[in-house]
Amino acid sequence: RTNLYEGRPLAHLTPPEGWMNDPNGLWYDAKEDLYHAYFQYNPNGTVWDLPLYWGHSVSSDLTNWLYQGIAIEPERDDSGAYSGSAVIDTNNTSGLFNDSVDPRQRVVAIWTYNTPDKESQYLSYSVDGGYSFIPYENNPVLDINSTQFRDPKVIWHEESKKWIMTVAHSQKYEILIYSSPNLKDWKLESSFGDQGYLGYQYECPGLARVPLVQSGNGLTLSNLTYPNTTFYNSSYFNSTSNGKAKEAWVLFISINPGAPQGGSATQYFIGDFNGTHFVPFTHQTRFIDMGKDYYALQTFFNSKHEGDVLSIAWASNWQYGSLVPTEKWRSSMSLVRNLTLKEWAPNPESVQLNLNSEPILDMKPLNAKNASTEVTDFLLTTNNSLSANFAPRINTGIYDFEIVWSVNENAFNNSRLNEWILYIDSQDYYSEYLALGYDTTAGAFYLDRGNSYNDFVTLNPFFNNRQSVFLEPYSTSSNGTNTYKVYGVIDQNIIELYFNDGSVVSTNLFFFSDQNQIRGFETWTNVNGGFKFDSFKFHVLDF
Ligand code: FRU
Repeated sequence: RTNLYEGRPLAHLTPPEGWMNDPNGLWYDAKEDLYHAYFQYNPNGTVWDLPLYWGHSVSSDLTNWLYQGIAIEPERDDSGAYSGSAVIDTNNTSGLFNDSVDPRQRVVAIWTYNTPDKESQYLSYSVDGGYSFIPYENNPVLDINSTQFRDPKVIWHEESKKWIMTVAHSQKYEILIYSSPNLKDWKLESSFGDQGYLGYQYECPGLARVPLVQSGNGLTLSNLTYPNTTFYNSSYFNSTSNGKAKEAWVLFISINPGAPQGGSATQYFIGDFNGTHFVPFTHQTRFIDMGKDYYALQTFFNSKHEGDVLSIAWASNWQYGSLVPTEKWRSSMSLVRNLTLKEWAPNPESVQLNLNSEPILDMKPLNAKNASTEVTDFLLTTNNSLSANFAPRINTGIYDFEIVWSVNENAFNNSRLNEWILYIDSQDYYSEYLALGYDTTAGAFYLDRGNSYNDFVTLNPFFNNRQSVFLEPYSTSSNGTNTYKVYGVIDQNIIELYFNDGSVVSTNLFFFSDQNQIRGFETWTNVNGGFKFDSFKFHVLDF
């Protein structure tokens, strides 16, 4: 057996070779109708190392990504162009552009220059639509003489007509908020800190204005999945300047190590931002993704559809990211997700807001018509299961599935666990598989990625434990039957699970020995008649 693994995700951004971590500088070019993503990049090896660059990829459909080369390089070999963001300086507030640069392409990158003795904030700007960058001549633009001062995310705040930067003072557990009229001169306005999970350090902060939409609009399996935004109707949220959308502010803070699942994770706070201070509505911490591989989330500066808040995270974990068994390249990004806020009411007295994630996948090139299993009203019993084997001819390595299941507790034996499992089988399906299960005792859905003869998987305890999410019912009928829903995307070595239309998400890597060749799937239960698949769809996508 070998650990050499070459299968590479198809609809997820990966580097052509070398090491990748955080997404950086996400923006949309309205002139070319093209999305740009940069990333922390070491092209010279498959582990994190200096010198560290910004790699660059583009996509027109947020599904196919094309690598474009290195966009930003550090000044010295013992230093790094660390994480940061990009803005479009349409009105040339920085004075860095002349009239020949289209206002839609006036890209300025704001990033951390890391040297052995300091982290300070640098500007670079592009006059060729984001492919190459020119360093600003008076860098740094922000320097507090610290070695723990990084990851600036800049947004435009329309009400105060200022640029706003959130930047991590990492081991002080504070996010500093600065304002600027011109991207060059920065004024400290406030700090937000010592809140939520602290971990060992705060990294990659970001503020975003997120629309409130009514709950219940679902994920779809067709076309670009943008939500139809019917806006939330509640008095404690103000309308935006355009009078249309209700919204609230979300502050993202990545922490590493010290996440509840171990290693690194992205937490968020929902609240208000007045141009100088962020005030959370509650002090409760939430995690945007309950899986183990979702870090350093960043939102796009802008997007094709105004009001959409598109985001990408690094789909790995600092606990084992440099050890995963891929050979020429390491790590992928998550799918692009559109973020909204929705109401969540565990009971009528405690209505809360929840950040909802919806994957953006252009299903036109993925065309799910071949090799589909689609079944409705399937009662699971101990000898009635669903299964499929994928013929090599049609087996692309990318799949999606949607399962709506209902639970009838009367059929349960309460002296033991009652569960159903979906096995995703490798070619060697007796010993290597992924188990996705719903267990009624815990009320949780789990993903077990520990079954593999791959040395990395079996020997790495941080990798092979179960990842669970607790689920509220998607709906409850008058006879007491609870219904739940999951939409999943499997792309070579990554599985993203969106529960109940994206109110809970879990993203996890997995590795089988043999290049992640999936043979098929099968379902199983230990209960006769306690579970019904209201609908079950599994597609081999035609990439
Ligand atoms: C987060 C991080 C950032 C830093 C970058 C360096 O994953 O540690 O704080 O800017 O990675 O690559």
